[in-house]
Amino acid sequence: MKVLILPDAGAAADRTADLLSAQLRAMPSSVLGLATGGTMEAVYARLVRLHREEGLSFARASSFNLDEYVGLPPDHPCSYWHYMRQQLFDHVDIDLANAHLPQGDAADPEAEAIRYEAAISDAGQIDLQLLGLGLNGHIGFNEPTSSLNSATRIKTLTRSTRDANARFFTRPEDVPQYAITMGIGTILRAAEVVLLAYGAAKAGVVAQMIEGPVTASCPASVLQMHQKATVVIDESAASQLRLRDYYELVHPAGGEAGL
Ligand code: GLP
Repeated sequence: MKVLILPDAGAAADRTADLLSAQLRAMPSSVLGLATGGTMEAVYARLVRLHREEGLSFARASSFNLDEYVGLPPDHPCSYWHYMRQQLFDHVDIDLANAHLPQGDAADPEAEAIRYEAAISDAGQIDLQLLGLGLNGHIGFNEPTSSLNSATRIKTLTRSTRDANARFFTRPEDVPQYAITMGIGTILRAAEVVLLAYGAAKAGVVAQMIEGPVTASCPASVLQMHQKATVVIDESAASQLRLRDYYELVHPAGGEAGL
């Protein structure tokens, strides 16, 4: 696991956007795995800037988002489809026909989850999967005790996740109870994963993810098993890491290893 420690949240988001843009420039037809949440807003803002100012193109790319709330139609202001349009899709040249999210208002959500998993397999492989980190260690909406080899399916959200996401809804009780999420097994099949987290509130779970045991109690810890996982954090989120000095020695200022 590569651990990149940047001075602050803005620098960490920029570093993450730059990893994604390097992937796109190297392989314009990349299959991207995308994430939502407050953490990603600054990443998408930078990608939009890179598109406008430096010609970064999504025209040949396709994307699969991690998850969507069950029951929310795409045009619902709190759906992740709406989030993606607002934050990224409407501001870059991606072909919306190639931008995929689970359909939250599908008549049969379980069948929709199976369809979505198959669509990812049909695309070949996700070349780069972007991930945020839940306060309880979730990735996508894979809550603690999710099977470490799970496929896309319905998950019941924990109270803590619903509380954390209540800020995006008018009333806390409006946060859906269920989501369709890529499984942990789905995420692990991506050729490369990049997880971004920042802020002191996530320092504890960041330490569990990087230095704790691999356990379904902290789903993100499974990234220790991935062959190409990069964790991008800021100094606040790094504050409980026991081996912080070592990560900073290998990747000074969050840069590449100086071999
Ligand atoms: C949400 C999303 C995750 C996201 C996480 C962190 O519930 N399903 O994909 O990474 O929680 O959210 P935030 O970035 O707002 O802290």
